[in-house]
Amino acid sequence: MNKLSCFVAIDFIDDPNVAGSNYWYICPFTDVEVGDKAVAPLGRHNREQTGTVRKVIFTEDNKAPFPIDYIKSVRRIIKDNGYLIVKKTVLNPTVTMMDIYAPLVAKKAEAGQFIILRVDEDGERIPLTVAGYDRKAGTLKIIFQIVGGTTARLNAKNEGDYIKDFVGPLGCATHTEGLKKVCIVGGGVGCAIALPVAQKLHSLGCEVHSVIGFRNKDLLILENEFKTCSDKLTIMTDDGSYGRKGLVTQPLHEALQSGEKYDEIIAIGPLIMMKFVVETAKPFGIKTTVSMNPIMIDGTGMCGGCRLTVGGKTKFACVDGPDFDGYEVDFDEAIVRSSTYAEFERRERESNCNLFNKEVR
Ligand code: FAD
Ligand code: FES
Ligand code: MG
Repeated sequence: MNKLSCFVAIDFIDDPNVAGSNYWYICPFTDVEVGDKAVAPLGRHNREQTGTVRKVIFTEDNKAPFPIDYIKSVRRIIKDNGYLIVKKTVLNPTVTMMDIYAPLVAKKAEAGQFIILRVDEDGERIPLTVAGYDRKAGTLKIIFQIVGGTTARLNAKNEGDYIKDFVGPLGCATHTEGLKKVCIVGGGVGCAIALPVAQKLHSLGCEVHSVIGFRNKDLLILENEFKTCSDKLTIMTDDGSYGRKGLVTQPLHEALQSGEKYDEIIAIGPLIMMKFVVETAKPFGIKTTVSMNPIMIDGTGMCGGCRLTVGGKTKFACVDGPDFDGYEVDFDEAIVRSSTYAEFERRERESNCNLFNKEVR
């Protein structure tokens, strides 16, 4: 029986060196359309490059439709309908991890930066932190808590589905140079944001002490991951159902009081937690960096949505942060601003729940 094969012409418009040249490629995929993105090896070193499919011709028996002397094989097709969810892992009933195929973002992402995504065409833009990346595979990890409409919509997607927009990396990478001993304090889903920072510091030879806290055992995430990059790990739960009972500030205070000399404390979690980590560290004079996550809209410094007061000056978390000197942040103002859209969010959450209910029926 004849085998149908597909030849695609790709224009590497993203590569200034070869833009405009139409190379023909044999394509092992059958659902290719003009306008899709295609990843193919290019040049003598077979460097992977993304180009746009300009022409698609189906032929039989792997024969090219006309004599050509330059044929390689397309490795992947990225549909123009968005960014592929390569892997989905449920970490606990409210926290999900996804690996998204986004090679250009994965190429440059660093710990502490974030992306902004839009789940579908009419979706809102939400920021999520880079929780890891695999530059070779071209994937970027996100870990998110299902708190409202958009995160519920995102969680409804599965492996093989697409996310409409995925922009980044945005913000400044966490400062890690020269640090020899650091205490990482993570709260709840903030631990997902803290993990790549702990991993980066560990890989640079820094001594990492991690304190991670959750409301209860069921909400615990990333324990093994933290174990492998921490010289010392303390797990706290509010109700004592796992690890030690109490707040993350307790072991931090004990460590500081017993004379631990950290170059820096890095706190990532709910605003109220970060506020009290700063209060705990202040008497000991240890530099404390916090990761601020105010309302963000454009992520480019244009809309002003993410403004914070830091050291008496207005700063934009998306371009000046998200990391700031904790001693300088006006937490009380940030806490008030973070509830600006509470009523709107409640309505959005309810309407989404009804939608999902209808779908289930
Ligand atoms: P909603 O019901 O709309 O909102 C729930 C809460 O999220 C509210 O407190 C609301 O103020 C806040 N929120 C809603 N929209 C935004 C927005 N556009 N920007 C900031 N906050 C918003 N969450 C994670 O679970 N994992 C992460 O890695 C993560 N990283 C973040 C990094 C940055 C730089 C920022 C600013 C936020 C990050 N968040 C992260 C928070 C995440 O963006 C919100 O949980 C998400 O936007 C909630 O949207 P929703 O529609 O599901 O819920
Ligand atoms: Fe708009 Fe920062 S998100 S200015
Ligand atoms: Mg929302």
